[in-house]
Amino acid sequence: MSRVHNFSAGPSAIPLEVLTKIQNDLSDWGGNGMSVMEASHRGESFTQVAEKAESDLRALLNVPDNYHVLFLQGGATLQFSMVALNLAAKNKTVDYAITGSWGNKAVKEASKFNKVNIVCDSKADNYTSIIDEKDWRKDPDAAYLHITENETIGGVEYSFMPKSNGVPIVSDMSSSILSREINVSDYGLIYAGAQKNIGPAGLTLVIVRDDLVGQAANDVPSLMNYKTYVDSGSMSNTPPTFSWYVAGLVFEYLIDLGGIKAIEKTNIIKSDLLYNCIDESMLYFNPVKNDCRSRMNIPFLLNDESLEKKFLHESNQAGLVNLKGHRSVGGMRASIYNAVGIDAVSDLIAFMQQFEIDNK
Ligand SMILES: Cc1ncc(COP(=O)(O)O)c(C=O)c1O
Repeated sequence: MSRVHNFSAGPSAIPLEVLTKIQNDLSDWGGNGMSVMEASHRGESFTQVAEKAESDLRALLNVPDNYHVLFLQGGATLQFSMVALNLAAKNKTVDYAITGSWGNKAVKEASKFNKVNIVCDSKADNYTSIIDEKDWRKDPDAAYLHITENETIGGVEYSFMPKSNGVPIVSDMSSSILSREINVSDYGLIYAGAQKNIGPAGLTLVIVRDDLVGQAANDVPSLMNYKTYVDSGSMSNTPPTFSWYVAGLVFEYLIDLGGIKAIEKTNIIKSDLLYNCIDESMLYFNPVKNDCRSRMNIPFLLNDESLEKKFLHESNQAGLVNLKGHRSVGGMRASIYNAVGIDAVSDLIAFMQQFEIDNK
């Protein structure tokens, strides 16, 4: 068997222990004589999987009882409109902090239904910083304040919790959920596409405070109304059972590792190692300000752009794959989610250092 080190931004690496468990379960899952993909979502076996996944996630993130955990489809992108349709009456003002591409996309959808107030936008800085909160122009009457916890493309992540004076904070945590400790009750709603730190694509996680459910207008389609999922245990129609099952295995795996505290510790070590390598080098640089550098997605550019193709070709041959940066940023990007181990980061650093020596 030859597994590569996969630095993809998403879909991305899944722990080998989880893949092995899936492989063992595949043709005869839990003595059912069939795979989980072939089983009814309403059957007893899948119900147990679904309930355990929810309770393990609750334990990992310490989710308070007045929050619902929902397992949806449609990706994080569908949440861009669901949030607007569920949390704000039509044409009501909603606040958005823009720190990169995903925040801009979220604004585009919300603008179809609501009056969007941009509280800050670091475009002038090419999305390499987060504007100081004292300069944010918040609307005290906004229905919610939306932030993108970690901008996957630019590699910009919040290291502080914005203050909102009671306005619910909605956070797109697609690329940072389960990577660090959070206080769920600081948020009104958290959403995340699964395909980075949770499991396979096709599943979207929503954690939403009780009082924010049930406000959608009557003409909002049922499957875009959080209440539908709350009332049915996320099973009003057929859920993505396989992705849900794998997510449950990932949650078990994370608990066995020691929970989020332990995972965060490893993520700090991994990201510090890589940023130090970049900062000490004469060839690589990361354009993001120190106080908002992402622990999950680390872009790095080469001072000599003509070496980029060679870097990608040789790193790929060395088993370090999916390092090409997003076209809007260029250069490289290493996504080092939970399933990317210290060994992968160390191998990447060793490669980068040797590449720099060889190309002096
Ligand atoms: C921060 C962020 N938000 C939203 C999305 C869109 O997610 P999806 O493809 O699940 O709709 C992504 C995808 O990579 C992302 O990184």
